[in-house]
Amino acid sequence: MSLLLAASTQRTIGWVLALLVTVPVIFLMARRAFVILFRADPEVGSEVELAPNRLPAVPDEVLEGTRLDRSLGAGLVTLALIGVVLPLYWLGEPGRIDGADANYNRIFTDRGGESYEELCTACHGPGGGPGAAQFTLTDASGDFVSQVSWAAPALNTVLTRFSEEEVTHVLNFGRNGVMPAWGGPGGGPLTEQQVNNLVVWMRSIQLDPDTIAANVRNGAAERKAALLKEADPSLSDEEAAAAAGAFMGEVDDMLAPLKANAEATLSARISGVERLPEGEARDRELAKIESQLEDFVAADLLAEDFADKDVLIAWGEVLFSNRADAGVYGCARCHTAGFSYQAVEQAERVDGTPVQDSYDQGGGAFGPSLTGGATVTRFIDPGQQQTFITIGSQTGVSYGSAGRSSQGSGQMPGFGARAEGDNEYNALLSQPEIAAIVAYERSL
Ligand code: HEC
Ligand code: HEC
Repeated sequence: MSLLLAASTQRTIGWVLALLVTVPVIFLMARRAFVILFRADPEVGSEVELAPNRLPAVPDEVLEGTRLDRSLGAGLVTLALIGVVLPLYWLGEPGRIDGADANYNRIFTDRGGESYEELCTACHGPGGGPGAAQFTLTDASGDFVSQVSWAAPALNTVLTRFSEEEVTHVLNFGRNGVMPAWGGPGGGPLTEQQVNNLVVWMRSIQLDPDTIAANVRNGAAERKAALLKEADPSLSDEEAAAAAGAFMGEVDDMLAPLKANAEATLSARISGVERLPEGEARDRELAKIESQLEDFVAADLLAEDFADKDVLIAWGEVLFSNRADAGVYGCARCHTAGFSYQAVEQAERVDGTPVQDSYDQGGGAFGPSLTGGATVTRFIDPGQQQTFITIGSQTGVSYGSAGRSSQGSGQMPGFGARAEGDNEYNALLSQPEIAAIVAYERSL
């Protein structure tokens, strides 16, 4: 609507300006032509006094009287018009800029969406995924091992995990030899603008917090059921699902007293904010409190003497290896070899045996190994590890405790909420969930 308005005011002002210039010019030219063609005629034959193309001289009284007044009056009117039109034009400028921005955004989003449908759905799945890519697995000497189906991450949460620059890097250069290089810098076919359009389109498909939380929880429960069946193959699917549901109940029971505790600590502030009138300010305050409650619970979970460590670590394990939406809420797709192509459950060698007998969880793949106490060495304080997983790594920025740090590549995603420009992206994992993963990693 504002776009339409902006466009139409601009056009109207343009028309007015054009008319202001053209109408007087046409009028003067027409009058001159009229005088030359018709008025001069009766003068024919009296050239001595006045040539036929000359008008009789205007007397001084007229020139310095009505003529002068008329010219000055016209000047004044023009000046007044300019005085009114210019500020009006200036007033309309922000609207026109917003209109142009919205227009560009819409065009880029549409074009990005079209490119996605054309180039990416085959692997990532329609509408932003998830999907799977066919991939030929070879061994170190290049010999065929297996034809596998490699999980292609859903992109409807990718702008939480990575900055737009980091996403652009993946689009330009591809990853792991399975995600192709699309941009010019990586030798791909797309222009910088086309790559940018894809990123702009991704902004339009990012998920809301409730959907994300439900996906994480359901994925963790499914993963728990799979682990239970692995440990006891005699379990039916229903039995495994029921046991997994019971486990999620244990997690809730573990968290409930910690939440109650945190709420008691903040009770004065909570009731103060609840008394505020409904509106943005209240929502902002409530969100702040919500995030502080999460921080308190996470700190309790990571305390040295936390009593329920077994449930905590078991929860961390299923969050780490969550397969929901092609593994985007978890870590195993990058930190566990073979996890992305189900090397144990599905991928088979030519002789029918599985490509891997088991997973070395956190043993390292695209991301480094986290086993053998690696993360305890890297981060003295578990809280620092929690922060690192919340914000991820940045290119050229080192992470880890002083004297034990490493250079980030920007390829370790961040799982907490993120903002870029005017856009805000919801957290993929809550702080208690990240704390559980930290506890699990530190146990590896
Ligand atoms: C041949 C299959 C294939 C095609 C085509 C493909 N991708 Fe991918 N892409 C993948 C796979 C597989 C991964 C995961 C790689 C890994 O596990 O390291 C991936 C990873 C990504 C990632 C990183 C996401 C993350 O969270 O790690 C982005 C972004 C991405 N692809 C975008 C695109 C876009 C946009 C297109 C279309 C222009 C596209 N991909 C086309 C297979 C494909
Ligand atoms: C898209 C791939 C990817 C995913 C998914 C991923 N990581 Fe990473 N991770 C990396 C990379 C790459 C690094 C190395 C740092 C760098 O290059 O910036 C890393 C580094 C780390 C480190 C530091 C290890 C060290 O000793 O330097 C920790 C801890 C870690 N990741 C934990 C996690 C956790 C927890 C998750 C899931 C919640 C996760 N990662 C998901 C790619 C990934």
